[in-house]
Amino acid sequence: MVLVKDDLTKEISAAIAEENTFVVTDKNVEKYYPLFFRDCDKFVIDPGENSKTLDTMAAIARKMLECGADRKTKIIAVGGGVVGDIAGFTASVFMRGIEWTSVPTTLLAQVDSGVGGKTAVDLDDYKNIIGAFHQPTDILVSLRFLETLPERERLCGLGEIIKTAFLDPKIFSVVESGLSRLVSFDRDTLYETVKECIAFKERIVAEDEKETTGRRKILNLGHTVGHAIEKTDKHRLSHGEYVLWGLLYESYITKNFISYEYYLYMTALVKKFLKGRKLKFDSASVADASLSDKKNSGGRISIIAAVDKGEQKELFFSRDEIFEGIERCKKELNL
Ligand SMILES: NC(=O)c1ccc[n+]([C@@H]2O[C@H](COP(=O)([O-])OP(=O)(O)OC[C@H]3O[C@@H](n4cnc5c(N)ncnc54)[C@H](O)[C@@H]3O)[C@@H](O)[C@H]2O)c1
Repeated sequence: MVLVKDDLTKEISAAIAEENTFVVTDKNVEKYYPLFFRDCDKFVIDPGENSKTLDTMAAIARKMLECGADRKTKIIAVGGGVVGDIAGFTASVFMRGIEWTSVPTTLLAQVDSGVGGKTAVDLDDYKNIIGAFHQPTDILVSLRFLETLPERERLCGLGEIIKTAFLDPKIFSVVESGLSRLVSFDRDTLYETVKECIAFKERIVAEDEKETTGRRKILNLGHTVGHAIEKTDKHRLSHGEYVLWGLLYESYITKNFISYEYYLYMTALVKKFLKGRKLKFDSASVADASLSDKKNSGGRISIIAAVDKGEQKELFFSRDEIFEGIERCKKELNL
């Protein structure tokens, strides 16, 4: 069941209060919403990507055993993408798999990571390298959580929303008509957008749950170069901000293969969200980092191109083509 509402405080409290549940959250979420976590079996992780490890997972499993968890225990993940990924992955392997509920509390998690059943932890420098597809039984999306979200995390979620808008004509219209309201985090516009993004992701996941047909790959728009910049920049900014940079560079790199009008539109929209921000990086290092993307094939770098509204295709480039594209984009768009 997927429930999206302005305020699901009661429903979330009721889910946590059910018998045989185990809650995973992080210290920030616990600090902002202490009432949810007063009387429950729980594990509270340190916030941030560094917690997404096998060690944290083992600590969660140990605490679950101490609390008497069994095959009928349900994990409830209340947090951003880090909490969702690690709690969902723990659910996928604890006693060979138990149920879990996703309660995403960041905008990124509400429109993206909290839906779709991809769960994982990192290993050394490899992000999401050990994981499983394990769908949550329920997804409870309460817009209220967004009230406490810091500016950086807002932009992070907006980055994923813009990406989705370039993939789906319906979201494109919602974003286009409510752009200024979206940027100012107007709740009604957010509600409409979050609902549409979830519906879109569910449709794509239903078509290609385990990334076997390639359909799910389109969700990686902006992510090849975006991830490569994120890696070389050592994760200083939020993930969604790197996605925005990735969208900008990737639309430039693919511009000879897509509608010119759409290219101009995407570039203008992304620049609006980046609000004149600058990001200096070494193009050669980013081109090298793109070479290790999981989606690549035969040494060629996979880029999803948004050809036009609702139309995408996967293109492949050499490392040098990516390098030259980035360099030219920097000069031409004065980045
Ligand atoms: N599984 C997927 O399909 C998928 C998709 C995209 C990203 N991801 C993963 O998601 C993670 C990023 O997720 P994220 O951006 O949500 O990061 P996050 O979970 O680290 O949360 C960002 C920050 O916001 C804080 N926070 C969470 N909710 C809050 C709230 N309501 N109010 C105030 N602060 C709050 C957190 O404590 C943290 O400091 C990455 O690990 C990425 O790999 C997974």
